[in-house]
Amino acid sequence: MVAAVKPVLIVGNWKMYKTIEESTQFVKELLPLIKESTDSIYLAVPFTLIKSVSDAAKESPLVIGAQNMNDAEEGAFTGEVAARMLIDAGAKFVILGHAERRRIFQETNAFINKKLKRALKDGLQPILCIGETLEEREAQKTKEVLEEQLKGCLEGIEPTELQTLILAYEPVWSIGSGLVPTKEEAEELMQMAKDLLEGLVGKTASKPILIIYGGSVTPENAKSFLDQAHIDGLLVGGASLSAVTFSKIINYPI
Ligand code: PGA
Repeated sequence: MVAAVKPVLIVGNWKMYKTIEESTQFVKELLPLIKESTDSIYLAVPFTLIKSVSDAAKESPLVIGAQNMNDAEEGAFTGEVAARMLIDAGAKFVILGHAERRRIFQETNAFINKKLKRALKDGLQPILCIGETLEEREAQKTKEVLEEQLKGCLEGIEPTELQTLILAYEPVWSIGSGLVPTKEEAEELMQMAKDLLEGLVGKTASKPILIIYGGSVTPENAKSFLDQAHIDGLLVGGASLSAVTFSKIINYPI
């Protein structure tokens, strides 16, 4: 097995897939395949799997997290889940503002901002997702959209509070579509996201905020993204559902 050439962060996002049995089987299959990896490996699983996958992944490099949360500490919010409940179940991080939450569940930057504040307050590492739609891209509004999302989502948060933040840039048109920007385009967009972020929060004190790329990542294209200077890692949806396929991304170059 070939070890990764630079330490990177690989985040799997299972979306609404897998039962408890399927998820623990996945972990059993994945761990021997990635034992030589030096990457940080995160897995965002459905709420119902956080406990079982955390238990199955104990004493392994796998870090387990959630895909969403509510902004309130607790309360009468039928069907919602609080950050402290996620932490209690074993979650270490949470994905916020994923394009599917924005599009299907009408999540706004203002709502994501509240969730982000709650995650930071309660000690859950946030992965904030931003990205433009195809229409916005074609109208040359990408920069404007990313800036608006960043501004709205980070409003009222002190730069010093953002030490644990991870930013995921995912062009919406690339998610689940098989369409990807060229590596040069991706690098340019990531650089833009990084510049916008630094413009808003300054160069935060001790370490730079990690920026990862997401959208139709596969074992075949992972290396071309990870080779880019401004890409610190990948957010992987469909290709994280199979242990073998996910391990090939983790063990890049293949
Ligand atoms: P995909 O999903 O890899 O299946 O395109 C990425 C994501 O939604 O985070």
